[in-house]
Amino acid sequence: MTRLGVNIDHVATVREARKIDEPDPVHALVIAESAGADGITVHLRGDRRHMQERDIRIMAQICKTRLNIEMAPTQEMFRIACEIKPYSVTFVPERREEVTTEGGLDVLLHSKTLKPLIQDYHDQDIHISIFVDPSNEQIKACARLGVEIIELNTGRYADAKGEEQHILELEKLRNAARYAHKTGLRVAAGHGLNLRNVGPVAAIPEVEELNIGHSLIGRAIFVGLKEAINEMKEKMK
Ligand code: PXP
Repeated sequence: MTRLGVNIDHVATVREARKIDEPDPVHALVIAESAGADGITVHLRGDRRHMQERDIRIMAQICKTRLNIEMAPTQEMFRIACEIKPYSVTFVPERREEVTTEGGLDVLLHSKTLKPLIQDYHDQDIHISIFVDPSNEQIKACARLGVEIIELNTGRYADAKGEEQHILELEKLRNAARYAHKTGLRVAAGHGLNLRNVGPVAAIPEVEELNIGHSLIGRAIFVGLKEAINEMKEKMK
């Protein structure tokens, strides 16, 4: 079955709205894992708008599944990752003004700077994933850089208006997943997935893992995190 990586950033978003110490995302990690999360994802942003270094330091010590940290491919983040040693780091593009990650990383454009950085991560035994749009050119560039995992951006699929657009975006994801798998990459996917749209993406055979955050934490407000994760896992089946 497709694994569910639970992104708990938005527990920290609520905490940071008051700049106090609760709700604690570390608590969310413990509940998520006990509810069957197959992995935990957090995004350490340059502006620290939700997760703080303190959070991910504790998480790395207590995580029983796989801790995946989304980060910009910068030296600052590399130094933090070296200290924390998560299972994997997912490179994401980052703009300070954005509300959330807006698209995949342009791997073709940044290949030269990414190559030595990926080697540095591999020397630290940290798996590297890259968040990319479902484009064969981008996927080919990831394979050339020697990363193990790509995470396909499902944002356009999630935002698609109308049946025709929806089918088109889903087809792009299916083709990209097939292509990536053929080039030897492991395939994850995520962004904007919820109970209504997760089924067809979870059914793509090459997609091993989905990373889902906003809809899960939003739903957890009403039914609790454990139940929100159960519902999502049911839909993914
Ligand atoms: N994958 C990546 C690379 C992301 O940046 C995000 C958002 O932090 C997610 C998955 C989860 O997206 P959402 O919160 O829309 O489920």
